Amino acid sequence: MCGNKHWMVCRDGWRRSYSCVFIYFSVPIIIYIGVKRKVLHISFDVLSEAEYNLSYQLKEVAKMKVLVTGGTNGMGKGVAKILAGSDNQIHEIIILCRSKERGEAIIKELKVITKNKKISIVLCDLTKLSDVRNAIKEIHSQHEFLDGLFINAGLGYAAKRVETEDGMDPHFQVNYLSQFMLTLNLLDLLEKSENGGRVIFNVTEGGEIFWDDMQMKKKWSYENGIHQAMVAKRMFCVRLHNLYRKIKGSKVSFIGFQISKTVWTNQINIIPFFMKTMAKVMKFFGAFISIEKCGMIMSPLFTEKQEESLKKSGKFITWKKKKFTEMKQDKIVFDKEMQDKLWKISLDLCKDEKTAQIAEKHL
Ligand SMILES: NC(=O)c1ccc[n+]([C@@H]2O[C@H](COP(=O)([O-])OP(=O)(O)OC[C@H]3O[C@@H](n4cnc5c(N)ncnc54)[C@H](OP(=O)(O)O)[C@@H]3O)[C@@H](O)[C@H]2O)c1
Repeated sequence: MCGNKHWMVCRDGWRRSYSCVFIYFSVPIIIYIGVKRKVLHISFDVLSEAEYNLSYQLKEVAKMKVLVTGGTNGMGKGVAKILAGSDNQIHEIIILCRSKERGEAIIKELKVITKNKKISIVLCDLTKLSDVRNAIKEIHSQHEFLDGLFINAGLGYAAKRVETEDGMDPHFQVNYLSQFMLTLNLLDLLEKSENGGRVIFNVTEGGEIFWDDMQMKKKWSYENGIHQAMVAKRMFCVRLHNLYRKIKGSKVSFIGFQISKTVWTNQINIIPFFMKTMAKVMKFFGAFISIEKCGMIMSPLFTEKQEESLKKSGKFITWKKKKFTEMKQDKIVFDKEMQDKLWKISLDLCKDEKTAQIAEKHL
């Protein structure tokens, strides 16, 4: 029998043998994965040559004019970059961004990489409804139509709750409300598209609406903020789809897209050290994809033919086994009463006559 002292020795022995077994197995596995990734050219940051060529092949696609919110970083930048460079650089990209400096830098970077000269920016800080109003005016003054809109800009990690100058939770306002207002005000331009206007919503599953505390004054967490905005976006997508299907001959489609693998975006630079370290380990094991890969997966949604886009309208899709597949949705997303409730609350919060008139027209 082990005495107290003896037991300590036994325990240390076990610990040592556990560590040995762990090192014995994990080191070769890590080396094997590393070598395999190199040998197979599974390069993370750069696309393989075959993938790059594929994305740059001239396909039979129409010239599209696409507005991307949050195109200065992450998934938005990935989509903007691939769209700008593909199909013989025929597409026009407008990037809605909050910083003139970052916006101009992105135009310069994308023009050099993609050789596409038709890239421009619209300034708009989505934490300010006044900025959204100005951006809507600017877009209308410069463009007669739009073929695509990527509702993507979003805040992720935040250390504490702050309030926007409009008195809202920033996740609610940036990730949902400002883009609700933007979308409604750009519908007329999307309706004028000859290729079938389309709105692609960047979404994830789950989440709930905190009807009694939407601005999360009582109980705040950044995760709840992100998820609440996501449900709201999904409900908005379905409502627009239903409204437009009632309009005879309508060509505009509304699609929710969820990326199936986490994308290595600017969020990594914002999260705390511990989370960043974990992410780096997971990246080594292939848990992330690059923004370019994300752009390659998503770009067909913006360039595919109108009939294909309309087939996906009102649905939530992801990319699995090299094809777009439909995903199941929570009941609340299709609940008409809840959609109405959210629609009314959102219009009240926008406090904008023009937006209210557009909403009225579509009711
Ligand atoms: N990463 C993923 O795996 C993943 C998966 C599913 C869904 N999403 C969603 O995808 C969206 C984009 O996330 P991401 O991971 O690509 O993050 P990201 O790299 O941080 O990019 C976010 C983009 O939104 C812009 N943005 C943030 N606040 C803004 C504001 N107030 N006004 C205007 N633009 C603003 C950012 O502009 P700046 O460059 O000026 O910061 C940036 O361009 C988010 O809604 C996120 O929840 C991400």
